[in-house]
Amino acid sequence: MEKRITVIRGDGIGPEIVEQALRVLTRVAEKYGRRFVYQEILAGGAAIDACGTSLPEESLQKCLDCDSVLLGAVGGPKWDGVPKEIRPEAALLGIRSAMGLYANLRPARLFPQLAAASPLKPEIAGQGIDLMLVRELIGGAYFGEHRTGLENGELVAHDDMVYAAHEIERIARAAFAIARKRSSRVVSVDKANVLDTSRLWRKVVHEVAAEFPDVSCTDMLVDNAAMQLVKNPAQFDVIVTENLFGDILSDEASMVTGSIGMMASASMGDGTRGMYEPIHGSAPDIAGKDLANPIGTILSAAMMLRYSFDMPDEADCVEQAVNAVLDAGFRTADCMSEGCTRLSCSQMGDRILGQIC
Ligand code: IPM
Ligand code: MG
Repeated sequence: MEKRITVIRGDGIGPEIVEQALRVLTRVAEKYGRRFVYQEILAGGAAIDACGTSLPEESLQKCLDCDSVLLGAVGGPKWDGVPKEIRPEAALLGIRSAMGLYANLRPARLFPQLAAASPLKPEIAGQGIDLMLVRELIGGAYFGEHRTGLENGELVAHDDMVYAAHEIERIARAAFAIARKRSSRVVSVDKANVLDTSRLWRKVVHEVAAEFPDVSCTDMLVDNAAMQLVKNPAQFDVIVTENLFGDILSDEASMVTGSIGMMASASMGDGTRGMYEPIHGSAPDIAGKDLANPIGTILSAAMMLRYSFDMPDEADCVEQAVNAVLDAGFRTADCMSEGCTRLSCSQMGDRILGQIC
């Protein structure tokens, strides 16, 4: 059966890293007798340049009419001055929202081979990190009303943070279901000592927790969670949190595992269709130089195989190929350490392909 993948190469390093992920997908398809059909669309800065808007209607339609979306990265300083409605980031938020992708899964795992690249002390990193950050993706401050205007003679800005109970319930349920397949421990992160949205969050999460008696559930305030992630990251199995906290904590979680360039993500809704993207940005400073780490994107493609296409063998194959290349001491610049061999983005792609035969 054929799978239709909508591809957004995007901006900055996006095209380079997506290229490597597509090579990997194509090789996997050959090996396992699958057929992937790619339809490329413009979104983000590239779409602003070509069509004057970051999310042309036709692009959005192709995200809604496919089996999954693979995205590199969007944005860059070039588009800092454009109106907020058409900023590259608006395209990303528009796609997430239109596709109903409320659950953003961001696995943070310390590859033992990369322990030396982690900024944590060896005695902390040595305990291992293997957590799944489940971030609510289409609610909260990102999607509340934003406005700036004169009030009492000065400029005042508002960003409404809004959560309805059903939005919390569905993300909590997703997190508990994931925990069941892991070590059955959920930490729900909020700021319930200050925010009403967090107090509702906590109440609803506890109600959902009651449906999963086999999964433990503890609450943690977000400031403490930020601290615990560097003090004792091994304590976490699944973290579930709202959109903005999840954005921040996932960058932190990725860094403690050695490199943000390694971290993949899946954004899911109620069906099997998802959007898959590395969690890092478009890194304009290294764009076009063949320096970027394609592994976050390649592992995102592996998540697509696993979560959207129900192809666990194919996903395992990609993950094992990445592992083997790291085992052999190959690194891109971002996670280079002594004694390793430094590769460019495309050479890293070559090495990973070489493991899939
Ligand atoms: C992410 C990114 C996006 C977000 C930006 C680019 C809008 O930081 O996916 O984490 O904040 O969600
Ligand atoms: Mg982010």
